[in-house]
Amino acid sequence: MNIKQVVLQAFRDRAGDFVSGEELSRICGCSRTAVWKHIEELRSDGYEIEAVRKSGYRLIVAPDRLSAAEVMAGLGTERIGQLVYDYDEVISTQPIAHEAAAKGAPEGTIVLAEQQTGGKGRLGRQWHSPKHSGIWMSLIIRPVIPLPKTPQMTLLTAVCMARSIREETGLPVKIKWPNDLFVGDKKVCGILTELNAEADRVHYLVIGIGINVNSEESDFPPELAGIATSLRIESGGKVNRLQLLQRFCRNFEQTYDEYLAHGFQPIREEWEALSYTIGRWVKVETVSQKLEGRAIGLDDEGVLLVEDEAGLRHKVYSADVNYRANP
Ligand code: BTN
Repeated sequence: MNIKQVVLQAFRDRAGDFVSGEELSRICGCSRTAVWKHIEELRSDGYEIEAVRKSGYRLIVAPDRLSAAEVMAGLGTERIGQLVYDYDEVISTQPIAHEAAAKGAPEGTIVLAEQQTGGKGRLGRQWHSPKHSGIWMSLIIRPVIPLPKTPQMTLLTAVCMARSIREETGLPVKIKWPNDLFVGDKKVCGILTELNAEADRVHYLVIGIGINVNSEESDFPPELAGIATSLRIESGGKVNRLQLLQRFCRNFEQTYDEYLAHGFQPIREEWEALSYTIGRWVKVETVSQKLEGRAIGLDDEGVLLVEDEAGLRHKVYSADVNYRANP
């Protein structure tokens, strides 16, 4: 942790009470003048910090900004979120994470932005990422798994995020295959997994996650009206982005470690239990495949199984899935 993170952690431990300059200088291992300099820096980052002679410093308000310092402070994970890069505005967090990964950024590194001007969605679509209202992040992981198993990481991410949102907000989030999170019939979160690999070796994955957290109806462009929603709209109150992100980091690390140790089966079961897709009549279109049928589950590898009207089972690897009323 750097000094600003240590100061923020001390404020958090004190929950609104004063921390003396002397104590901060002891915890941070620097002079009181250096502490004061860091307090000034936090103030210019948007933190409102009261300073009272003989009592010390106390945090009044933290900015509504996802800062690296805050995410890392008190996170308690070993890898996920232990290194965070934060930006005010980027085109997309994905290329930044790719560049960091290519330069050797450790597993668990996260790139965060308050706003993306060219957010990327799946299948070349755009991802609307306005200022301060969402979590726009890219997570670098380096699993030692064969290339065909990498789609399982997307399913794992969807399960962890659905679980985190449920725990944090109580909303009954469901997963639409393969990786959209829905509340009711509207999307709140999308996941875009990109990878760098050779035929027999995965170098790294960049998992891009976009969550509409505190957006209001008016924040969505007309083309998203009726299909996108936010956690705030659905829960009726502002959701703490920092807490949600930290919860996700902890959930992800635990589930990822279980996956590396025991394989995909537990994820598959949780995915199916949270699924929006299973049991529905779907229309699947890929470059090579067009079919209609009922989604009946995932196979051992995480491939979607669809049963057509003749009772034939088909494996769907990657496709756009549309939903229809039963035939
Ligand atoms: C989708 O549902 O189409 C996937 C959307 C993924 C959006 C996230 S936001 C953070 C990261 N950076 C991007 O440009 N895209 C992903």
